[in-house]
Amino acid sequence: MKFNQRTHTCGELRESDIGKKVVLNGWVDTRRDLGGVIFIDLRDRYGITQVVFEPSYNGEAHELGKELRSEFVISIEGTVRKRPADTDNDKIPTGHIDVMVDKLVILNASETPPFPLEDDIDVHEDIKLKYRYLDLRRSAMQKNMLLRHKMAQITRNYFDEHSFVEVETPVLMKSTPEGARDFLVPSRMHKGKFYALPQSPQTYKQLLMVSGYDRYFQITKCFRDEDLRADRQLEFTQIDVEMSFVDVDDIFTMIEPLMKRYFKEVLNYDIQLPVKRLTYDEAMEKYGSDKPDLRFDLQMVTLNEAFKDSEFRVFKDSIANNGIITGLLAEGCGDFTRNQLDVLTDYVKKLGAGGLIWMRVKEDGLEAPIAKFLSDDEKQSIIDNMNAKPGDLVFILSGPKSKTLSIMGSLRLEMARRLDLVKEDADPALLWVTDFPLFEWDEETQRFYAMHHPFTSPRIEDIDKMETAPGEVKARAYDLVLNGHEIAGGSIRIHDAKLQQQMFKALGISDEEAKEKFGFLMNAFKYGAPPHGGIAFGFDRLVMIFAGEHSIREVIAFPKTTSGISLMDESPSLVGDHQLKELHVKVR
Ligand code: AMO
Repeated sequence: MKFNQRTHTCGELRESDIGKKVVLNGWVDTRRDLGGVIFIDLRDRYGITQVVFEPSYNGEAHELGKELRSEFVISIEGTVRKRPADTDNDKIPTGHIDVMVDKLVILNASETPPFPLEDDIDVHEDIKLKYRYLDLRRSAMQKNMLLRHKMAQITRNYFDEHSFVEVETPVLMKSTPEGARDFLVPSRMHKGKFYALPQSPQTYKQLLMVSGYDRYFQITKCFRDEDLRADRQLEFTQIDVEMSFVDVDDIFTMIEPLMKRYFKEVLNYDIQLPVKRLTYDEAMEKYGSDKPDLRFDLQMVTLNEAFKDSEFRVFKDSIANNGIITGLLAEGCGDFTRNQLDVLTDYVKKLGAGGLIWMRVKEDGLEAPIAKFLSDDEKQSIIDNMNAKPGDLVFILSGPKSKTLSIMGSLRLEMARRLDLVKEDADPALLWVTDFPLFEWDEETQRFYAMHHPFTSPRIEDIDKMETAPGEVKARAYDLVLNGHEIAGGSIRIHDAKLQQQMFKALGISDEEAKEKFGFLMNAFKYGAPPHGGIAFGFDRLVMIFAGEHSIREVIAFPKTTSGISLMDESPSLVGDHQLKELHVKVR
Protein backbone atom coordinates (compact mmCIF):
# COMPACT_ATOMS: atom_id res chain seq x y z
CA MET A 1 0.00 0.00 0.00
CA LYS A 2 1.49 3.30 -1.05
CA PHE A 3 1.15 6.23 1.27
CA ASN A 4 3.06 9.37 1.90
CA GLN A 5 5.02 10.05 5.06
CA ARG A 6 3.35 12.63 7.28
CA THR A 7 4.44 16.22 6.92
CA HIS A 8 3.05 17.12 10.34
CA THR A 9 1.79 15.36 13.45
CA CYS A 10 -1.87 15.59 14.47
CA GLY A 11 -1.02 18.10 17.16
CA GLU A 12 0.99 20.49 15.08
CA LEU A 13 -1.03 22.55 12.60
CA ARG A 14 -1.98 26.14 13.45
CA GLU A 15 -3.52 29.14 11.70
CA SER A 16 -0.07 30.00 10.35
CA ASP A 17 -0.28 26.79 8.27
CA ILE A 18 -3.49 27.81 6.46
CA GLY A 19 -3.22 27.13 2.74
CA LYS A 20 -0.48 24.49 3.09
CA LYS A 21 -0.71 21.07 1.48
CA VAL A 22 -0.12 18.52 4.24
CA VAL A 23 -0.04 14.77 4.89
CA LEU A 24 -1.25 13.43 8.22
CA ASN A 25 -1.14 9.84 9.53
CA GLY A 26 -3.10 8.59 12.51
CA TRP A 27 -6.14 6.88 13.99
CA VAL A 28 -9.79 7.78 13.52
CA ASP A 29 -10.80 9.10 16.92
CA THR A 30 -14.36 10.14 16.16
CA ARG A 31 -16.42 10.40 13.02
CA ARG A 32 -19.39 12.66 12.39
CA ASP A 33 -21.47 12.65 9.24
CA LEU A 34 -23.23 16.00 8.93
CA GLY A 35 -25.51 16.26 5.91
CA GLY A 36 -23.12 14.51 3.59
CA VAL A 37 -19.98 16.13 4.97
CA ILE A 38 -17.82 13.76 7.01
CA PHE A 39 -15.73 15.15 9.89
CA ILE A 40 -13.01 12.95 11.31
CA ASP A 41 -10.97 13.72 14.40
CA LEU A 42 -7.62 12.28 13.44
CA ARG A 43 -5.48 11.31 16.42
CA ASP A 44 -1.88 10.45 17.15
CA ARG A 45 0.06 10.83 20.37
CA TYR A 46 0.72 14.48 19.68
CA GLY A 47 -2.90 15.55 19.44
CA ILE A 48 -6.04 15.69 17.34
CA THR A 49 -6.72 17.42 14.03
CA GLN A 50 -10.12 17.69 12.38
CA VAL A 51 -10.11 16.48 8.77
CA VAL A 52 -13.05 17.07 6.43
CA PHE A 53 -14.39 14.98 3.54
CA GLU A 54 -16.68 17.08 1.36
CA PRO A 55 -18.33 15.63 -1.79
CA SER A 56 -18.03 18.91 -3.65
CA TYR A 57 -14.36 19.30 -2.69
CA ASN A 58 -13.21 15.79 -3.59
CA GLY A 59 -15.89 13.21 -4.45
CA GLU A 60 -13.53 10.23 -4.54
CA ALA A 61 -12.03 10.90 -1.11
CA HIS A 62 -15.50 11.52 0.30
CA GLU A 63 -16.78 8.20 -1.08
CA LEU A 64 -13.91 6.27 0.54
CA GLY A 65 -14.34 8.36 3.72
CA LYS A 66 -17.75 6.75 4.21
CA GLU A 67 -15.98 3.49 5.10
CA LEU A 68 -14.09 4.99 8.04
CA ARG A 69 -14.84 3.78 11.55
CA SER A 70 -13.23 4.34 14.98
CA GLU A 71 -9.59 3.32 15.24
CA PHE A 72 -9.04 2.82 11.50
CA VAL A 73 -5.45 3.80 10.67
CA ILE A 74 -5.32 6.25 7.79
CA SER A 75 -3.15 8.60 5.81
CA ILE A 76 -4.67 11.74 4.35
CA GLU A 77 -3.45 14.43 2.04
CA GLY A 78 -5.21 17.75 2.02
CA THR A 79 -5.14 21.49 2.42
CA VAL A 80 -5.23 23.39 5.70
CA ARG A 81 -8.04 25.94 5.95
CA LYS A 82 -9.43 28.22 8.60
CA ARG A 83 -12.40 26.59 10.26
CA PRO A 84 -15.73 28.05 9.15
CA ALA A 85 -17.14 30.74 11.46
CA ASP A 86 -18.48 29.44 14.79
CA THR A 87 -16.92 25.99 14.42
CA ASP A 88 -13.67 26.82 16.26
CA ASN A 89 -12.71 24.53 19.14
CA ASP A 90 -10.79 26.47 21.79
CA LYS A 91 -10.12 23.33 23.82
CA ILE A 92 -7.46 21.95 21.46
CA PRO A 93 -4.41 23.74 20.04
CA THR A 94 -5.37 22.78 16.46
CA GLY A 95 -8.93 23.98 17.04
CA HIS A 96 -8.86 26.95 14.66
CA ILE A 97 -8.01 25.01 11.51
CA ASP A 98 -9.09 21.85 9.73
CA VAL A 99 -7.81 19.93 6.72
CA MET A 100 -9.86 19.51 3.54
CA VAL A 101 -9.06 16.01 2.26
CA ASP A 102 -7.88 15.44 -1.32
CA LYS A 103 -6.74 11.88 -0.86
CA LEU A 104 -7.38 9.13 1.66
CA VAL A 105 -5.44 5.89 2.09
CA ILE A 106 -6.86 3.39 4.56
CA LEU A 107 -3.75 1.78 6.06
CA ASN A 108 -5.63 -0.61 8.29
CA ALA A 109 -9.18 -1.29 9.43
CA SER A 110 -10.06 -1.90 13.08
CA GLU A 111 -12.67 -3.93 14.85
CA THR A 112 -14.86 -1.92 17.21
CA PRO A 113 -12.75 -1.47 20.36
CA PRO A 114 -14.09 -3.19 23.51
CA PHE A 115 -14.34 0.16 25.29
CA PRO A 116 -14.29 3.80 24.21
CA LEU A 117 -10.73 5.14 24.09
CA GLU A 118 -11.57 8.28 26.03
CA ASP A 119 -10.54 9.77 29.36
CA ASP A 120 -12.71 9.29 32.45
CA ILE A 121 -14.26 6.08 31.19
CA ASP A 122 -16.13 3.83 33.56
CA VAL A 123 -14.72 0.48 32.48
CA HIS A 124 -13.61 -2.35 34.73
CA GLU A 125 -9.83 -2.36 35.11
CA ASP A 126 -9.65 -6.02 34.04
CA ILE A 127 -10.99 -5.15 30.59
CA LYS A 128 -8.55 -2.29 30.27
CA LEU A 129 -5.64 -4.54 31.28
CA LYS A 130 -6.69 -7.30 28.87
CA TYR A 131 -6.59 -4.76 26.05
CA ARG A 132 -3.75 -2.72 27.52
CA TYR A 133 -2.43 -1.77 24.08
CA LEU A 134 -5.76 0.02 23.49
CA ASP A 135 -5.90 1.48 26.98
CA LEU A 136 -2.43 2.94 26.33
CA ARG A 137 -3.85 4.82 23.33
CA ARG A 138 -6.00 6.91 25.68
CA SER A 139 -4.58 10.36 26.22
CA ALA A 140 -4.69 10.02 30.03
CA MET A 141 -2.41 6.96 29.81
CA GLN A 142 -0.17 8.56 27.22
CA LYS A 143 0.22 11.53 29.52
CA ASN A 144 1.31 9.21 32.33
CA MET A 145 3.79 7.36 30.13
CA LEU A 146 5.30 10.62 28.91
CA LEU A 147 5.55 11.89 32.47
CA ARG A 148 7.34 8.69 33.43
CA HIS A 149 9.73 9.22 30.55
CA LYS A 150 10.32 12.82 31.56
CA MET A 151 11.06 11.91 35.17
CA ALA A 152 13.49 9.22 34.04
CA GLN A 153 15.29 11.80 31.89
CA ILE A 154 15.43 14.34 34.74
CA THR A 155 16.90 11.60 36.91
CA ARG A 156 19.53 10.54 34.37
CA ASN A 157 20.56 14.13 33.67
CA TYR A 158 20.75 14.99 37.34
CA PHE A 159 22.95 12.07 38.29
CA ASP A 160 25.10 12.46 35.20
CA GLU A 161 25.68 16.13 36.11
CA HIS A 162 26.87 14.97 39.53
CA SER A 163 29.43 12.43 38.24
CA PHE A 164 27.33 9.32 38.87
CA VAL A 165 27.96 6.30 36.65
CA GLU A 166 25.03 4.20 35.44
CA VAL A 167 26.05 0.57 35.74
CA GLU A 168 23.79 -2.35 34.86
CA THR A 169 23.74 -5.21 37.33
CA PRO A 170 22.63 -8.82 36.78
CA VAL A 171 19.03 -9.95 36.69
CA LEU A 172 20.05 -13.54 37.31
CA MET A 173 21.75 -13.63 40.67
CA LYS A 174 22.25 -15.61 43.83
CA SER A 175 19.31 -15.90 46.16
CA THR A 176 20.17 -13.52 49.02
CA PRO A 177 17.34 -12.83 51.42
CA GLU A 178 16.44 -9.15 51.60
CA GLY A 179 13.10 -9.30 53.32
CA ALA A 180 10.66 -10.38 50.64
CA ARG A 181 10.33 -13.73 48.88
CA ASP A 182 12.61 -14.35 45.90
CA PHE A 183 11.55 -15.28 42.39
CA LEU A 184 13.61 -18.29 41.41
CA VAL A 185 14.79 -19.35 37.96
CA PRO A 186 15.82 -23.01 37.57
CA SER A 187 19.15 -23.55 35.87
CA ARG A 188 19.18 -25.89 32.86
CA MET A 189 22.94 -26.29 32.90
CA HIS A 190 23.25 -26.86 36.62
CA LYS A 191 20.72 -29.43 37.69
CA GLY A 192 18.92 -28.60 40.91
CA LYS A 193 20.38 -25.10 41.13
CA PHE A 194 18.52 -21.83 40.88
CA TYR A 195 19.14 -18.23 40.09
CA ALA A 196 17.12 -15.60 41.90
CA LEU A 197 15.81 -12.38 40.41
CA PRO A 198 17.11 -9.38 42.37
CA GLN A 199 14.84 -7.90 45.03
CA SER A 200 17.12 -4.91 44.50
CA PRO A 201 20.71 -4.50 43.28
CA GLN A 202 21.76 -3.95 46.91
CA THR A 203 24.79 -6.25 47.09
CA TYR A 204 26.01 -5.30 43.62
CA LYS A 205 25.96 -1.58 44.30
CA GLN A 206 27.97 -2.13 47.45
CA LEU A 207 30.47 -4.21 45.48
CA LEU A 208 30.74 -1.37 42.96
CA MET A 209 31.77 0.89 45.83
CA VAL A 210 34.48 -1.63 46.75
CA SER A 211 35.52 -1.44 43.07
CA GLY A 212 35.98 2.31 43.41
CA TYR A 213 33.09 3.55 41.23
CA ASP A 214 32.39 6.09 43.97
CA ARG A 215 29.00 7.30 42.68
CA TYR A 216 26.60 4.82 41.08
CA PHE A 217 23.01 4.98 39.93
CA GLN A 218 20.75 2.76 37.90
CA ILE A 219 17.10 2.85 36.87
CA THR A 220 16.35 -0.79 37.19
CA LYS A 221 13.76 -3.53 37.63
CA CYS A 222 13.41 -5.26 41.01
CA PHE A 223 11.42 -8.39 41.70
CA ARG A 224 9.64 -9.35 44.90
CA ASP A 225 7.20 -12.19 45.30
CA GLU A 226 4.94 -10.46 47.82
CA ASP A 227 1.23 -9.75 48.14
CA LEU A 228 0.25 -6.90 45.88
CA ARG A 229 -1.48 -3.63 46.69
CA ALA A 230 -2.18 -0.37 44.89
CA ASP A 231 1.43 0.68 45.39
CA ARG A 232 3.11 -2.69 44.99
CA GLN A 233 3.92 -4.83 41.98
CA LEU A 234 5.84 -8.10 41.62
CA GLU A 235 8.27 -6.31 39.35
CA PHE A 236 8.79 -2.63 39.89
CA THR A 237 11.38 -0.02 39.07
CA GLN A 238 13.89 1.57 41.39
CA ILE A 239 16.15 4.55 40.96
CA ASP A 240 19.04 2.92 42.77
CA VAL A 241 21.85 5.07 44.15
CA GLU A 242 25.07 4.44 46.08
CA MET A 243 27.89 6.78 47.12
CA SER A 244 31.28 6.32 48.76
CA PHE A 245 32.79 8.37 51.60
CA VAL A 246 29.45 9.68 52.80
CA ASP A 247 27.30 9.96 55.89
CA VAL A 248 23.53 10.43 56.18
CA ASP A 249 23.61 14.19 55.58
CA ASP A 250 25.61 13.79 52.37
CA ILE A 251 22.94 11.50 50.94
CA PHE A 252 20.22 13.98 51.88
CA THR A 253 22.18 16.85 50.35
CA MET A 254 22.44 14.93 47.08
CA ILE A 255 18.81 13.79 46.94
CA GLU A 256 16.95 16.95 48.04
CA PRO A 257 17.83 19.07 44.98
CA LEU A 258 16.69 16.18 42.78
CA MET A 259 13.30 16.30 44.50
CA LYS A 260 13.27 20.06 44.01
CA ARG A 261 13.95 19.56 40.32
CA TYR A 262 11.12 17.03 39.90
CA PHE A 263 8.69 19.44 41.56
CA LYS A 264 9.87 22.39 39.49
CA GLU A 265 10.05 20.66 36.12
CA VAL A 266 6.93 18.51 36.46
CA LEU A 267 4.56 20.62 38.54
CA ASN A 268 6.24 24.05 38.35
CA TYR A 269 6.14 24.01 42.15
CA ASP A 270 8.92 25.35 44.38
CA ILE A 271 9.64 23.19 47.40
CA GLN A 272 11.58 24.57 50.32
CA LEU A 273 14.88 22.94 51.23
CA PRO A 274 16.10 21.45 53.46
CA VAL A 275 13.39 18.83 53.67
CA LYS A 276 11.77 18.42 57.08
CA ARG A 277 13.04 15.53 59.22
CA LEU A 278 11.36 13.42 61.87
CA THR A 279 12.90 10.54 63.74
CA TYR A 280 11.13 7.22 63.52
CA ASP A 281 10.18 7.49 67.21
CA GLU A 282 8.67 10.95 66.74
CA ALA A 283 6.81 9.88 63.61
CA MET A 284 5.32 6.89 65.40
CA GLU A 285 4.35 8.86 68.50
CA LYS A 286 2.80 11.83 66.70
CA TYR A 287 1.36 10.17 63.59
CA GLY A 288 1.33 6.44 64.30
CA SER A 289 3.19 5.70 61.09
CA ASP A 290 6.71 5.54 59.70
CA LYS A 291 5.37 7.21 56.56
CA PRO A 292 3.11 9.91 57.98
CA ASP A 293 0.93 11.98 55.71
CA LEU A 294 1.67 15.52 56.82
CA ARG A 295 -0.69 17.24 54.39
CA PHE A 296 -2.98 17.58 57.39
CA ASP A 297 -2.14 18.13 61.02
CA LEU A 298 -4.13 15.79 63.32
CA GLN A 299 -1.43 14.85 65.84
CA MET A 300 -1.53 12.08 68.35
CA VAL A 301 -0.59 12.82 71.97
CA THR A 302 1.00 10.38 74.40
CA LEU A 303 -0.95 10.44 77.65
CA ASN A 304 1.12 8.06 79.83
CA GLU A 305 2.16 10.89 82.11
CA ALA A 306 -1.46 12.03 82.58
CA PHE A 307 -2.49 8.54 83.69
CA LYS A 308 0.61 7.51 85.62
CA ASP A 309 -1.38 7.05 88.84
CA SER A 310 -4.65 6.00 87.19
CA GLU A 311 -6.95 3.54 88.93
CA PHE A 312 -8.59 2.70 85.61
CA ARG A 313 -7.47 -0.88 85.02
CA VAL A 314 -6.96 -0.62 81.25
CA PHE A 315 -4.58 2.33 81.63
CA LYS A 316 -2.94 0.92 84.73
CA ASP A 317 -2.12 -2.35 82.92
CA SER A 318 -0.77 -0.55 79.87
CA ILE A 319 1.60 1.52 81.97
CA ALA A 320 2.68 -1.47 84.06
CA ASN A 321 3.43 -3.45 80.89
CA ASN A 322 5.55 -0.72 79.33
CA GLY A 323 2.77 0.06 76.89
CA ILE A 324 1.38 3.34 75.66
CA ILE A 325 -1.76 5.42 76.07
CA THR A 326 -2.27 7.60 73.03
CA GLY A 327 -4.93 10.18 72.27
CA LEU A 328 -6.26 11.75 69.07
CA LEU A 329 -8.30 14.93 68.95
CA ALA A 330 -11.07 15.15 66.37
CA GLU A 331 -11.93 18.83 66.38
CA GLY A 332 -15.61 19.65 66.14
CA CYS A 333 -16.62 15.99 66.06
CA GLY A 334 -18.35 16.00 69.48
CA ASP A 335 -21.68 15.42 67.79
CA PHE A 336 -20.67 12.14 66.12
CA THR A 337 -23.59 9.73 66.59
CA ARG A 338 -23.35 6.54 68.56
CA ASN A 339 -23.58 4.68 65.28
CA GLN A 340 -20.62 6.58 63.80
CA LEU A 341 -18.61 5.83 66.95
CA ASP A 342 -19.54 2.13 66.74
CA VAL A 343 -18.32 2.02 63.15
CA LEU A 344 -14.99 3.58 64.20
CA THR A 345 -14.75 1.16 67.13
CA ASP A 346 -15.21 -1.76 64.72
CA TYR A 347 -12.59 -0.20 62.48
CA VAL A 348 -9.89 -0.24 65.17
CA LYS A 349 -11.00 -3.66 66.45
CA LYS A 350 -10.46 -5.13 63.00
CA LEU A 351 -6.91 -3.80 63.19
CA GLY A 352 -6.42 -5.62 66.50
CA ALA A 353 -7.36 -3.06 69.16
CA GLY A 354 -9.30 -4.26 72.20
CA GLY A 355 -11.70 -1.35 71.84
CA LEU A 356 -11.84 2.40 71.31
CA ILE A 357 -12.25 4.88 74.14
CA TRP A 358 -14.05 8.05 73.07
CA MET A 359 -15.01 11.18 74.98
CA ARG A 360 -17.18 14.10 73.98
CA VAL A 361 -15.83 17.44 75.21
CA LYS A 362 -18.66 19.50 76.76
CA GLU A 363 -18.72 22.95 78.38
CA ASP A 364 -18.69 21.29 81.79
CA GLY A 365 -16.12 18.57 81.10
CA LEU A 366 -15.88 15.18 79.44
CA GLU A 367 -18.81 12.95 78.63
CA ALA A 368 -17.78 9.36 78.06
CA PRO A 369 -18.67 5.78 78.96
CA ILE A 370 -15.41 5.50 80.92
CA ALA A 371 -15.73 8.91 82.62
CA LYS A 372 -16.74 7.34 85.90
CA PHE A 373 -13.41 5.52 86.15
CA LEU A 374 -11.37 8.70 85.87
CA SER A 375 -10.54 11.28 88.52
CA ASP A 376 -11.32 14.96 87.90
CA ASP A 377 -7.60 15.64 87.60
CA GLU A 378 -7.24 13.01 84.94
CA LYS A 379 -10.15 14.41 82.96
CA GLN A 380 -8.72 17.91 83.15
CA SER A 381 -5.35 16.59 82.17
CA ILE A 382 -6.81 14.96 79.03
CA ILE A 383 -8.42 18.28 78.05
CA ASP A 384 -5.16 20.17 78.67
CA ASN A 385 -2.89 17.65 76.96
CA MET A 386 -5.12 17.31 73.93
CA ASN A 387 -5.81 21.03 73.77
CA ALA A 388 -9.49 20.10 73.52
CA LYS A 389 -12.41 22.54 73.32
CA PRO A 390 -16.12 22.04 73.87
CA GLY A 391 -17.58 20.39 70.75
CA ASP A 392 -14.48 18.25 70.15
CA LEU A 393 -14.14 14.50 70.36
CA VAL A 394 -11.20 12.68 71.95
CA PHE A 395 -10.18 9.13 71.04
CA ILE A 396 -7.88 7.11 73.29
CA LEU A 397 -6.20 3.77 72.67
CA SER A 398 -3.91 1.92 75.02
CA GLY A 399 -1.81 -1.24 74.75
CA PRO A 400 1.55 -2.49 73.48
CA LYS A 401 3.49 0.46 72.11
CA SER A 402 4.12 -0.05 68.43
CA LYS A 403 0.88 -1.90 67.70
CA THR A 404 -1.25 0.68 69.53
CA LEU A 405 0.49 3.61 67.87
CA SER A 406 0.03 2.18 64.42
CA ILE A 407 -3.65 1.44 65.00
CA MET A 408 -4.14 5.04 66.13
CA GLY A 409 -2.18 6.09 63.04
CA SER A 410 -4.71 4.22 60.90
CA LEU A 411 -7.59 5.87 62.77
CA ARG A 412 -5.88 9.22 62.12
CA LEU A 413 -5.94 8.51 58.38
CA GLU A 414 -9.52 7.26 58.55
CA MET A 415 -10.62 10.45 60.34
CA ALA A 416 -8.79 12.54 57.74
CA ARG A 417 -10.76 10.73 55.04
CA ARG A 418 -14.05 11.19 56.88
CA LEU A 419 -13.38 14.85 57.56
CA ASP A 420 -12.05 15.37 54.04
CA LEU A 421 -8.84 16.91 55.37
CA VAL A 422 -6.74 16.21 52.27
CA LYS A 423 -7.66 18.77 49.65
CA GLU A 424 -6.92 18.16 45.98
CA ASP A 425 -4.73 21.26 45.89
CA ALA A 426 -2.99 20.63 49.23
CA ASP A 427 0.72 21.49 49.30
CA PRO A 428 2.86 18.38 48.91
CA ALA A 429 4.25 17.07 52.20
CA LEU A 430 7.79 15.75 51.89
CA LEU A 431 9.86 14.53 54.83
CA TRP A 432 12.71 12.33 55.86
CA VAL A 433 12.06 9.74 58.54
CA THR A 434 15.38 8.96 60.23
CA ASP A 435 16.87 6.76 62.96
CA PHE A 436 14.86 3.64 62.25
CA PRO A 437 15.37 0.77 64.66
CA LEU A 438 18.07 -1.57 63.38
CA PHE A 439 16.09 -4.65 64.31
CA GLU A 440 12.46 -5.63 64.27
CA TRP A 441 11.18 -8.34 66.61
CA ASP A 442 9.00 -11.00 65.04
CA GLU A 443 6.51 -12.56 67.45
CA GLU A 444 5.81 -15.56 65.26
CA THR A 445 9.38 -16.78 64.82
CA GLN A 446 10.56 -15.22 68.11
CA ARG A 447 13.63 -13.61 66.61
CA PHE A 448 14.98 -10.28 65.41
CA TYR A 449 15.02 -9.34 61.74
CA ALA A 450 16.86 -6.48 60.07
CA MET A 451 14.30 -3.72 59.68
CA HIS A 452 15.94 -2.42 56.49
CA HIS A 453 18.44 -5.07 55.38
CA PRO A 454 21.36 -6.84 57.05
CA PHE A 455 23.95 -4.48 55.51
CA THR A 456 22.60 -1.40 57.26
CA SER A 457 24.94 0.20 59.77
CA PRO A 458 23.86 0.72 63.37
CA ARG A 459 24.43 4.17 64.84
CA ILE A 460 28.02 4.11 66.00
CA GLU A 461 27.03 5.03 69.55
CA ASP A 462 24.65 2.05 69.67
CA ILE A 463 27.06 -0.68 68.54
CA ASP A 464 27.66 -1.82 72.11
CA LYS A 465 23.96 -2.47 72.56
CA MET A 466 23.72 -4.87 69.62
CA GLU A 467 24.12 -7.85 71.92
CA THR A 468 22.72 -6.55 75.19
CA ALA A 469 19.67 -4.56 74.02
CA PRO A 470 19.13 -5.14 70.28
CA GLY A 471 15.64 -3.60 70.41
CA GLU A 472 17.12 -0.24 71.37
CA VAL A 473 19.73 0.00 68.63
CA LYS A 474 19.01 2.65 66.02
CA ALA A 475 20.15 2.35 62.41
CA ARG A 476 21.71 4.91 60.10
CA ALA A 477 18.66 4.31 57.93
CA TYR A 478 16.12 6.70 56.46
CA ASP A 479 13.04 6.83 54.30
CA LEU A 480 11.80 9.65 52.13
CA VAL A 481 8.06 10.13 52.48
CA LEU A 482 5.78 12.08 50.15
CA ASN A 483 2.09 12.58 50.98
CA GLY A 484 2.03 9.47 53.16
CA HIS A 485 3.85 7.23 50.67
CA GLU A 486 7.30 5.79 51.24
CA ILE A 487 8.94 6.88 48.00
CA ALA A 488 12.54 5.99 48.87
CA GLY A 489 14.58 4.23 51.50
CA GLY A 490 18.24 3.76 52.21
CA SER A 491 21.02 3.63 54.72
CA ILE A 492 24.68 4.01 55.46
CA ARG A 493 26.14 0.51 55.16
CA ILE A 494 28.41 -1.57 57.26
CA HIS A 495 31.80 -1.56 55.49
CA ASP A 496 33.70 -3.45 58.08
CA ALA A 497 33.72 -7.27 57.91
CA LYS A 498 33.85 -7.59 61.69
CA LEU A 499 30.81 -5.41 62.29
CA GLN A 500 29.00 -7.25 59.51
CA GLN A 501 29.74 -10.52 61.33
CA GLN A 502 28.39 -9.04 64.54
CA MET A 503 25.24 -8.05 62.66
CA PHE A 504 24.73 -11.56 61.30
CA LYS A 505 25.21 -12.93 64.78
CA ALA A 506 22.56 -10.59 66.20
CA LEU A 507 20.21 -11.77 63.45
CA GLY A 508 20.78 -15.39 64.43
CA ILE A 509 22.59 -16.11 61.15
CA SER A 510 25.40 -18.59 61.81
CA ASP A 511 28.93 -18.03 60.48
CA GLU A 512 28.38 -20.90 58.09
CA GLU A 513 25.10 -19.55 56.79
CA ALA A 514 26.56 -16.05 56.44
CA LYS A 515 29.50 -17.45 54.47
CA GLU A 516 27.17 -19.48 52.29
CA LYS A 517 24.82 -16.61 51.53
CA PHE A 518 26.94 -13.48 51.69
CA GLY A 519 30.50 -14.86 51.47
CA PHE A 520 31.15 -12.93 48.25
CA LEU A 521 30.33 -9.62 49.93
CA MET A 522 32.27 -10.45 53.10
CA ASN A 523 35.27 -11.42 51.00
CA ALA A 524 35.10 -8.19 49.06
CA PHE A 525 35.13 -6.25 52.31
CA LYS A 526 38.55 -7.76 53.08
CA TYR A 527 40.09 -5.79 50.22
CA GLY A 528 39.52 -2.19 51.20
CA ALA A 529 35.85 -1.30 51.28
CA PRO A 530 35.26 2.45 51.51
CA PRO A 531 32.60 3.80 53.87
CA HIS A 532 29.48 3.99 51.73
CA GLY A 533 25.73 4.42 51.73
CA GLY A 534 22.83 4.96 49.41
CA ILE A 535 19.17 5.07 48.72
CA ALA A 536 16.61 3.68 46.30
CA PHE A 537 13.46 5.35 45.06
CA GLY A 538 10.34 3.43 44.17
CA PHE A 539 10.15 5.02 40.72
CA ASP A 540 6.60 3.81 40.03
CA ARG A 541 5.37 5.34 43.28
CA LEU A 542 7.16 8.58 42.57
CA VAL A 543 5.59 8.89 39.12
CA MET A 544 2.19 7.84 40.50
CA ILE A 545 2.19 10.74 42.95
CA PHE A 546 3.37 13.29 40.41
CA ALA A 547 0.72 12.03 37.99
CA GLY A 548 -1.95 12.44 40.67
CA GLU A 549 -2.87 8.75 40.39
CA HIS A 550 -3.79 6.37 43.19
CA SER A 551 -2.32 3.16 41.82
CA ILE A 552 1.10 2.44 40.33
CA ARG A 553 -0.68 0.35 37.68
CA GLU A 554 -1.66 3.68 36.08
CA VAL A 555 1.98 4.58 35.44
CA ILE A 556 3.32 1.16 34.38
CA ALA A 557 2.87 0.24 30.73
CA PHE A 558 2.10 -3.43 31.28
CA PRO A 559 1.32 -4.09 34.95
CA LYS A 560 0.00 -7.20 36.68
CA THR A 561 -3.31 -7.37 38.52
CA THR A 562 -3.36 -7.55 42.32
CA SER A 563 -3.43 -11.32 41.97
CA GLY A 564 -0.19 -11.18 40.00
CA ILE A 565 -1.67 -11.98 36.59
CA SER A 566 -1.01 -10.30 33.28
CA LEU A 567 -4.48 -10.42 31.73
CA MET A 568 -3.14 -9.46 28.34
CA ASP A 569 -0.64 -12.25 27.70
CA GLU A 570 -2.08 -14.53 30.39
CA SER A 571 1.08 -15.03 32.39
CA PRO A 572 1.87 -16.92 34.50
CA SER A 573 1.04 -19.83 32.20
CA LEU A 574 1.60 -23.56 31.98
CA VAL A 575 4.69 -24.76 30.16
CA GLY A 576 5.31 -27.93 28.20
CA ASP A 577 6.70 -31.12 29.73
CA HIS A 578 9.84 -30.94 27.61
CA GLN A 579 10.61 -27.48 28.97
CA LEU A 580 10.19 -28.70 32.55
CA LYS A 581 12.33 -31.74 31.87
CA GLU A 582 15.11 -29.65 30.45
CA LEU A 583 15.04 -27.55 33.61
CA HIS A 584 14.97 -30.63 35.85
CA VAL A 585 11.69 -29.44 37.35
CA LYS A 586 8.75 -31.60 38.35
CA VAL A 587 5.40 -29.98 39.09
CA ARG A 588 3.62 -31.67 41.96
P1 AMO B 1 13.43 -0.75 49.84
O1 AMO B 1 13.11 -2.18 50.02
O2 AMO B 1 12.99 0.22 50.88
O3 AMO B 1 15.01 -0.53 49.76
O4 AMO B 1 12.90 -0.28 48.43
C1 AMO B 1 13.10 1.04 47.96
C2 AMO B 1 11.78 1.63 47.47
O5 AMO B 1 11.19 0.81 46.47
C3 AMO B 1 9.77 0.92 46.52
N1 AMO B 1 9.18 -0.43 46.59
C4 AMO B 1 8.21 -0.89 45.76
N2 AMO B 1 7.53 -0.29 44.78
C5 AMO B 1 6.61 -1.02 44.12
N3 AMO B 1 6.35 -2.31 44.38
C6 AMO B 1 7.01 -2.97 45.37
N4 AMO B 1 6.75 -4.26 45.60
C7 AMO B 1 7.98 -2.25 46.12
N5 AMO B 1 8.82 -2.56 47.14
C8 AMO B 1 9.54 -1.45 47.41
C9 AMO B 1 9.44 1.77 47.73
C10 AMO B 1 10.71 1.72 48.55
O6 AMO B 1 10.89 2.89 49.32
N6 AMO B 1 18.17 -1.86 48.52
C11 AMO B 1 17.32 -0.99 49.33
C12 AMO B 1 17.64 0.47 49.12
C13 AMO B 1 18.90 0.94 49.81
O7 AMO B 1 19.14 0.59 50.98
O8 AMO B 1 19.64 1.71 49.16
C14 AMO B 1 15.88 -1.23 48.97
O9 AMO B 1 15.54 -1.93 48.06
O10 AMO B 1 9.17 3.09 47.31
